[in-house]
Amino acid sequence: MADNSSSLTIPHIVRRQDYRPPDWLVPDIALDFALDAAATRVHATLSVTRNGDHDRPLRLDGDGLLPLEIRVDGAVLAADQWSLDGGTLTIALSNSAHMVETFVEIAPQGNSKLMGLYASGGLLCTQCEAEGFRRITFFPDRPDVLSRYSVRMTADKALYPVLLANGDPVEQGDLPDGRHWARWNDPFPKPCYLFALVAGDLACNADRFVTMSGREVQLGIWVREADLPRTAHAMQALKNSMAWDERVYGREYDLDVFNIVAVADFNFGAMENKGLNIFNSRYILADPETATDIDYDGVEGVVAHEYFHNWSGNRVTCRDWFQLSLKEGFTVFRDQNFSADMGSHAVKRIEDVRILRAAQFQEDSGPLAHPVRPESYMEISNFYTATIYNKGAELIRMMALMLGPERFRAGTDLYFDRHDGEAATCEDFVRAMEDGGEIDLAQFRLWYEQAGTPHVRALLSHDPATQSVTLLLEQSVPPTPGQPEKRPMAIPLRTALFDPETGQHRGDELLMLTEARQSVTFAGWPTAPILSINRGFSAPVIVETNRSQADLAFLSAHDDDPFARYEAMQQLMVNVLVGRIGGQPVDEDAVVAAIRDTVTNPLLDPAFIAEAIRLPSEAYLGDQMAVVDPDAIHAARDALQRRIGAELEPLWRDMHGKTKANAFALSPAAKGARKLRNTALLYLAASGAADGATVAFGQFSEADNMTERQAALATLANGASAEREAALDIFYNRYRDDALTLDKWFQTQAFAFHPDTVDLVEELGRHKDFTLANPNRVRALYGAFAGNQWAFHHKSGKGYRLVADCIVALDKLNPQTAARLVPPLGRWRRFDEARAAMMRAELQRILLEPGLSKDVTEQVSKSLE
Ligand code: PHE
Ligand code: ZN
Repeated sequence: MADNSSSLTIPHIVRRQDYRPPDWLVPDIALDFALDAAATRVHATLSVTRNGDHDRPLRLDGDGLLPLEIRVDGAVLAADQWSLDGGTLTIALSNSAHMVETFVEIAPQGNSKLMGLYASGGLLCTQCEAEGFRRITFFPDRPDVLSRYSVRMTADKALYPVLLANGDPVEQGDLPDGRHWARWNDPFPKPCYLFALVAGDLACNADRFVTMSGREVQLGIWVREADLPRTAHAMQALKNSMAWDERVYGREYDLDVFNIVAVADFNFGAMENKGLNIFNSRYILADPETATDIDYDGVEGVVAHEYFHNWSGNRVTCRDWFQLSLKEGFTVFRDQNFSADMGSHAVKRIEDVRILRAAQFQEDSGPLAHPVRPESYMEISNFYTATIYNKGAELIRMMALMLGPERFRAGTDLYFDRHDGEAATCEDFVRAMEDGGEIDLAQFRLWYEQAGTPHVRALLSHDPATQSVTLLLEQSVPPTPGQPEKRPMAIPLRTALFDPETGQHRGDELLMLTEARQSVTFAGWPTAPILSINRGFSAPVIVETNRSQADLAFLSAHDDDPFARYEAMQQLMVNVLVGRIGGQPVDEDAVVAAIRDTVTNPLLDPAFIAEAIRLPSEAYLGDQMAVVDPDAIHAARDALQRRIGAELEPLWRDMHGKTKANAFALSPAAKGARKLRNTALLYLAASGAADGATVAFGQFSEADNMTERQAALATLANGASAEREAALDIFYNRYRDDALTLDKWFQTQAFAFHPDTVDLVEELGRHKDFTLANPNRVRALYGAFAGNQWAFHHKSGKGYRLVADCIVALDKLNPQTAARLVPPLGRWRRFDEARAAMMRAELQRILLEPGLSKDVTEQVSKSLE
């Protein structure tokens, strides 16, 4: 079969400015699949209509396809009536409407890219976003071509008793030779990236939901029979999501059935195919024995995310892939708020900001920085990034904050109303916010255009003579690839001034920073107040202030905005750690005291306490330095952790012992108690107490849930003890046949703060249970390792070599997943010369690899520029 990914073709760059409406539309498509793992036949019937006044031929995208036969209006085309060039099938058509049929044969079993139709654990399933549909059949594979789909499947009934596709089931029946068939129709026009089918031996967790207008929807979560008991949480999350979208956005579900299928091999988290979501099984399956609280929250958040796409993505889709954040940023914002409503707003915000800083801020300050609405790409799969998703969500959040809840809702109502059934743009969304919310967002639009994280300097100065304070605000946006100069942005900063005497502030104000430099004066302050700024993380910016350690300690004890309180605590720790790394005198006692006060404050939520008292990550500390020194960072952080452990040892021991007897529950209170208990264990182990490993091993052995079991394992994995080896062995033997849980065994070791992690990862790469064929396993080992700053940046350069070797090997199977491992190597500019040279050398070595994919080529070459 034709293969168009030859290394000789120079990667083509797609530009936003080149957008043109499609030449031909496809209002209807009928697909007939003769399913078989080795050879599936696809017969597509497209009703095509000429779009506008032109005489251009019909061009259909294909990737690795050869037409076995082509018919136009029933007549078979001769070989000279069509051409195939770089995968594209061109057919000259004379009238304004035709019926075009193509026949192809594809091989799901050999599809290791997991794009298009592929086999996973005995199932056949599809993944089409972004450009996978062209690996199934010839079609104008672009999101602004919307069609009504009718899908017929035939398959062996014993191997594939369940046949699912988008929309509603219409008919099914048996065939000779042990085969059977089914037909599904989807009445809602959709782009081909939302097409899906699944065939397999699946069991169903069936339930129902009655919508706000009284319609009954059949819900199904389809998994392997053995996994049925692990689907309850996902089902509850689905029903909660459906009710939430009705209540918060007025959005009702629109088909009679909603199905979810879990598959073991999946490139991303999940996919919002209309009426047939397909999930990475890690975001469906959960039970206390194998899933941590973080896993449970992941299931809830991703189920919600995909469900919410039914409106933000499917009913209103994207005009082109440069608009990806239109659906992803908005949908992330929606799922974040949903999860906050289901649990704790404070803790959810802290977690989301932590993710944003770890993933998006790093992206924004490196060679792969790009705007939320990019200008160009080589391979669209590389643009499913933290910038599109998480920064995109922050943009929506800022608009929601500036508008207030009622006007924001008026804006989203207008957006859905105006664009239902259409392929829209980010600009359409902003305009709906302006029109529905009655606000001018002219300058705000820069957030979509300019890459890079804005820096804000906030300097508070007190004038006792006038009894006033002046807040001087300055902003700058650093240069990013292709954008050397930036204009000032519109930055909403929630601000409050605290009176140190009373411990209270006089009101929370939304300041709009719109100039490069501006100042505000506040009267009525005989003594200097303390500044609380960017409360709730109202803008995705880096704030630098002139607050003293004493000011931060004050805020860590008094700020009534939970995010700001957490942030003050973190900044207090960052200052101490960065000072220590830089060899300056620092006051660690202030950190210990702040932690003690936080831990013993009975008014605080345990989950919040656990967040607040945890030290900033090594990567975040690296972000605060001009040149990242992984060894010095690790040493400083480790030393502080040990000191906190030792000085407050009785407290940790007490906290750890206290929560022991609680029976397992999934309530926010129970989750918070576990989080705090695990944090106590971490500090207790760091304290140097002789029984640290014994206590951790005790928790590991006695735990009735994975949250405590895995945390104990992770704590042990950081040290060197007999208990470490014992626990790893027990864990392995207990879960060796459960892929998702075995991933944790790989991941925990790859994440460990252990001097030998790099050698261990090398060994684990040769373990009999390691495979490049499963993306979850690759991420568990190499993805986790590349995120372990101290280990990955081992001064030998061995970590770089391991990851580069993995990229090269994986690229031959699954370029999308391989490309996602490139960014950690691409950050070489942030490191000392020796490390930078080794990182660059690995990137150059990758680039020399013959037959390198477009995916990896783009990421590596941009990283070297
Ligand atoms: N659209 C999916 C989501 O965010 C992500 C995805 C992209 C999945 C590409 C698969 C392939 O929900
Ligand atoms: Zn999404």
